[in-house]
Amino acid sequence: MMISRILQKNSINRLTINTINSIKQSSSSSYHTTSKDEVVSMSNIKRNDEFSTLTNQDIKHFKDILGGDDSSRMITDKDELEGFNQDWMKKYKGNSSLVLKPKTTDQVSKILSYCNQKKLAIVPQGGNTGLVGGSVPLFDEIILSLTNMNQIESFDDVTGVVTCQSGCVLETLESYLNAKGFTVPLDLGAKGSCHIGGNAATNAGGIRLLRYGSMHSNVLGIEAVLADGTIMDCNSTLRKDNTGYDLKHLFIGSEGTLGVITKISIITPPKPTSVNVALLACNDFNQIKQILIKAKKQLGDILSAFEFMDRPCIDYVLDHQSTAKEPFDKKSPFYVLIETSGFHEQHDAEKLNAFLENIMSEDLVLDGSLATDTKNISQFWKLRETITESLGKAGAVYKYDLSLPIDTFYSIVEVMREKLKDKAVVTGFGHVGDGNLHLNISTPKQKYSKEFLSNIEPFVYEYTSQQKGSISAEHGIGYMKTGQLHFSKSPASIQLMKLIKNSMDPNVL
Ligand code: MLT
Ligand code: ZN
Repeated sequence: MMISRILQKNSINRLTINTINSIKQSSSSSYHTTSKDEVVSMSNIKRNDEFSTLTNQDIKHFKDILGGDDSSRMITDKDELEGFNQDWMKKYKGNSSLVLKPKTTDQVSKILSYCNQKKLAIVPQGGNTGLVGGSVPLFDEIILSLTNMNQIESFDDVTGVVTCQSGCVLETLESYLNAKGFTVPLDLGAKGSCHIGGNAATNAGGIRLLRYGSMHSNVLGIEAVLADGTIMDCNSTLRKDNTGYDLKHLFIGSEGTLGVITKISIITPPKPTSVNVALLACNDFNQIKQILIKAKKQLGDILSAFEFMDRPCIDYVLDHQSTAKEPFDKKSPFYVLIETSGFHEQHDAEKLNAFLENIMSEDLVLDGSLATDTKNISQFWKLRETITESLGKAGAVYKYDLSLPIDTFYSIVEVMREKLKDKAVVTGFGHVGDGNLHLNISTPKQKYSKEFLSNIEPFVYEYTSQQKGSISAEHGIGYMKTGQLHFSKSPASIQLMKLIKNSMDPNVL
């Protein structure tokens, strides 16, 4: 998962806090085509010349810190750098000539302290699975990869608290915990690559937030390194600790702008032993709303996910995933995926069946299917979890991650369809149980274009703001929304964020 950059001096440079200090700029997103020579557009952000340029002397210093310059510790090879310079959607791209891969907090501290003194720009990077350009350089920033900081340090099977380094891959952590009968309270499509530190840095949401809450609810402790190299040990494993400000929350969701997360302690729940997934087809969004109300009441504590996708999403998945199957004989405008997880097979099945009977008797579904075994459950999840990848394969896709009130939740999709007509395919899916819509505007076989973007922005942000929604429910601000924060935050909130940033990283002006 992406971690944003440590900000140093001047808001014009990527190293300064891209979410907060750049808000006065009228910058648009930086889009790139898949070809590195064909940059479609670049925002008006220019490299700040107050930042230094990397020298051989600097590289030698980093080599001394890391104990060598083999590719497991640092990367300078142009081809190898490519994957670190670009995000996986191939939308944002920088031109860094150095990746540093520390193994310890002490090494991170020494690197940041040196960069701070030398005014060398840095961008921290986790699994680089972010969607808003927060984990890649824009210019020549040094990339600080947390990949080598992947050790799981301890697990307490009474409290369920696990402590690990921030570069631990989410799926690896999940396997480790599963073997002990526990589970990470977070699950998302990018689990095979994203890092738990990036998940915390971006306050990643995902499909189980409905059941377990956000990273703010589950992270008990964080160790982070500040821009000047200070190691902030807030890595408590206590459930309760009311001694002053709870500083770890500053690092959760601040996208790496206040420090680099190096270690994390999370409270993990026991892994449910009985899991069921129902896939339902609906005719309109109002039916989904009614089903959600009933699911919350009738399934209660066993409800673990409530996701929706519209028909175009299913079409993209069927077009681009060879093993995905059309779920029902007849196509429908909407689909809902409901997961229950519990510990009493019979009790859970009875509850779910009663709920399904109820919604069918009230004509809220057109079709339905229940999966109780691992193979069928994963087939259903595949339809939901491969939407992003499938849309990405089709061509340029403009992605918006909005929190919206349930009564007007889907209307932005219809409004955008009306606005764009046949210029694009507008789809909606996401975590409807959490009020989070993923609005995706796909332009098959086309490249990202600034001209096309003007059909969408700022309209989509203005619309969201009028609905009192959020322009980022879970993906974060990154580079994509640096100029848009004011659509969701008051001037006073933004001012306070700047004060916090400047007090933790005084090199930023
Ligand atoms: C998801 O829910 O699948 C992710 O947030 C990715 C996306 O929005 O494309
Ligand atoms: Zn999502």
